[in-house]
This record gives sequence, structure tokens and C-alpha cells, in this order.
Amino acid sequence: MKSGPDDAIPIAAKLATKPVGLLEFAKLAGRNMLEVIPVETLQNTYVRGPLNIHYFCDPEIITELLVGAGRAFPKAKFTKDIIGSAVGNGLILSEGEKWRKQRHRYSPLFAARNLPLLSRHFAATGLDVAASLAENEGRIDVTQMAPASTLTNISRVIFSGNEEVTAEEIRLGLKNYFEYISNISLFDLMQLPKWIPRRKWLLSKRPVTDMRALARQVIESRRSESRVTPEDFLDLMIAAVEEDYEDIDTTVDNLLTFVVAGHETSANALAWGYYLLALYPEIQTLIREEIREVCPEGPVTFDDVQKMPLLRAHIKETLRLYPSAAFFARDAADALVIKDVTIKKGDALFFPVYSLHRNEKLWDEPNHYRPGRFLNITYPRGQYIPFGDGPRICIGAQYAETEIMVLIASVIRQIEFSMTDVPIPRPVLTFTMRPEGPLILNARAI
Ligand code: HEM
Repeated sequence: MKSGPDDAIPIAAKLATKPVGLLEFAKLAGRNMLEVIPVETLQNTYVRGPLNIHYFCDPEIITELLVGAGRAFPKAKFTKDIIGSAVGNGLILSEGEKWRKQRHRYSPLFAARNLPLLSRHFAATGLDVAASLAENEGRIDVTQMAPASTLTNISRVIFSGNEEVTAEEIRLGLKNYFEYISNISLFDLMQLPKWIPRRKWLLSKRPVTDMRALARQVIESRRSESRVTPEDFLDLMIAAVEEDYEDIDTTVDNLLTFVVAGHETSANALAWGYYLLALYPEIQTLIREEIREVCPEGPVTFDDVQKMPLLRAHIKETLRLYPSAAFFARDAADALVIKDVTIKKGDALFFPVYSLHRNEKLWDEPNHYRPGRFLNITYPRGQYIPFGDGPRICIGAQYAETEIMVLIASVIRQIEFSMTDVPIPRPVLTFTMRPEGPLILNARAI
């Protein structure tokens, strides 16, 4: 498929060009995790880092670690230190039997049969966003617009229809809460003892307690309504815990886990996705034609997006170049030899998804935007893992894909994005990989 007019290369991250020592590691990682990933991970499929760190970009080794012999290895301790206080002991961080029970309880919520219902809420947001852009043509910062739309979706599928809690309370509560979790503490990364006060805790313990109280209130008030037919995600969640008991604190943990895991990740994919369409206007036109053919007006449905292969390929390519979860990790619970790599018990196993997705040994023209590479082509397992793999694969993968597709389809159908002369920010990785500053595009109704 033809690319942009100049075949422009999308903005890339700067990785570490020299080895990073322990102290520097903590300093850089607190600011931008991408700056500690060795640049060699773009050329080689295995890089031995300092101390006990391994970086894996080899699809077979990755698959063995996530799906095979290493599948039960726990999430890295530092991940727990970073997001533990925000999401508690919910699905993302729990291990063993506690994790297994929760995964079993919540998996049906995310089943394809529930996506048409959720899509109705996403489509309502999509129509609002398109109408607002059409009314306010001109420069737009997509790093503001994208999270506003995923936040609206969360409010619609979880927090809507609660008379006891106002929309403004929810908006403010979520805003403070997200500011809190985006602010990774340097001390957490350095894994200093828990008694050393973290700046983050001192500054803002309140957003978490406030948000927990709000979540609890929302769950309890909805429970008392005893709805017969589920109307949104919260109804589905309540039905799941009613069938398979869970204490209220864990349900609050999980509600916040879904809010945290699903908001910023999808928002980043949207922002980068709009940017790529502006950079490649010819592909943007082709995608618009595809959307208009299937659904020229009105709410975009779950069935509609199944008939948009080019839009799906665009989203896959966006998540290849800009995976929101650009890095995740495990601690080796046992010694293991895979291919010729020796892993010792306690080693840090790093999966630099950003580098894997742009690795020169695996991809043709890795830094170019080529959605066509996802049309009718499958890749070896472990080569493309925006949602992870194995038992801990993202439970919300299909939910996210549907949400992103419905939102982009609703907007692109009516709005044309183009580049401006404002420089494009590089990706930065703290909690998720996002643009480092405002990403300004031109929006025009067509
Ligand atoms: C573009 C959007 C998203 C991306 C790129 C993404 C990525 C990921 C990745 C890579 C993991 C695995 C991490 C690991 O193995 O350590 C994960 C796990 C998870 N994600 Fe997502 N995610 C997205 C959206 C969502 C949404 C919308 C939800 C929920 C509404 C969600 C909920 C979760 C949960 C609960 C887990 C933990 C699953 C478990 O450990 O059993 N994610 N996600």
C-alpha cells in the first residue's frame, strides 16, 4: 500500500545509547523509562542488561516466558510498588489463586457478546466528539481530546445514572486520581524501603481515598437498584460478583483497575492514531471511504466496525509503533534455560515491547507506518504483543480495540486531520507511553 506523500517517518523515541548504572537508572526511569532501554534492543533480539536484567525481543523466548515455562512468573516487584497503591490487589497485580479466581470471575464481562452493548456508549461519545470538532474547527491538541473521550466513555459505562454522585464529582475525582498515578515516584523505582516517605504519598494520598470512596458509593447505590437487564459495564460487573462472591474491597480494587488500565492506554492509542492519519493523508482518505461505505451517519455499531479491515489494520499498526504498554516485566521465580539464554532465579525479565515492535531483525522497514502489513498477514507468536500474551494477556484487549475503532470511525467519517508547523513531541514512558507534550493537529469538518 502507498504511504504518505513524502513517506514521512513517524516520530520515534530516543533509547539509551550507553549503559545505564543503578542510580542513573532510577533517575532516568522516573522521568522516561524509554531512556533506560538499550538502543541495541532495536537491532538484537536479546540484550543482557546491567545487574540481573535481561531484555527480550526474541519471539520464541518471549512466548516461552509468557505462555510456556515462565507463564506463572510473578509481575515484577517494582510494578507493584508503582501502581499498587492505586489499584490495590485487583486483577492486574494479584497472583496465584487470588488472581485465578478474579480472572475467572471477570472474563465473561469482556466477552464479545457484551461488546455491542458497550459500543452503544462509545458511539454516543464518538458522535459528541465529532460534533464538537466540527463546531470548533482549527488547531486541536489530541493529547487533551483523546483522554477526554475515553474518560467520557468510562463515565458512561461505569459511573452514569447515579443520582447520589454528580458528574462533576466524578470528573474531578478521576482527574485527580489520574494525575496521581501518572506521577511515578523515583523512590518506587529505586525500591527503597517502604518507611521512606514518597513525595507522591505525601502530596496526594487523598485522590486515592476519595476515588475509592466514590467507587464504593457508586457500586453500592447501583446494587440497591437490582436492575434486571444489564445496561452498562458496572451492571455486568455487579452481576459477575453476585454470581461468584467477592468482598466489596476487592470489587472496588477491580473497578479502579479497569478504570486505570483502560483509560490512558486507549487514550494514547487514539492520540497517536490521529497523528498517523494526519501524517498520511492518502491513507486517511481511504479509511474515511471505508467507514462511509459501512456507516455514513448515525451511531457506529459493533457490527459496523467488523466490516472495516483497513481501520483495524491502522489501529494495529498504531499499536505496533506506539504500544501504550511499551514495557512490562516479570521476576524469574525459577532458573531456566531458553535457547542459549541462562536465566537465574530472581533475575529481572524485561519485555521492551517498543523495541520488539521496531526490531530490525523482525520487521521490514520497522520505523515506517505501513498498515498494509496487517492486512491478511499473520506474524509468529511473540513478535507483536501490544496486549501481552499467555494467561496474563490484557483482559480488555477486545474492549479496547472496539472502543478505539468506534471512536475513530465516528470522528474520521466527518473530520479531516492534517499536520501543522508545531513540532511533534517524542514518546515518553511513565505509567503508559504517551506524547511528551501537546500534539497539535488541524481539524476540519468535511
Ligand atoms: C490500547 C489499550 C490497551 C493496551 C495497549 C493494554 C495493554 C495491556 C498489557 C500489555 C497487559 C499485560 C501486562 C503484563 O503482562 O504484565 C495488560 C493487562 C491488563 N489490562 Fe490492558 N491494555 C489496554 C486496554 C485495557 C482495557 C480497556 C482494560 C479494561 C477495561 C484493560 C485491563 C487490563 C487488565 C485488568 C490487565 C491485567 C490482566 C491480568 O493480569 O489478568 N486493559 N493490558
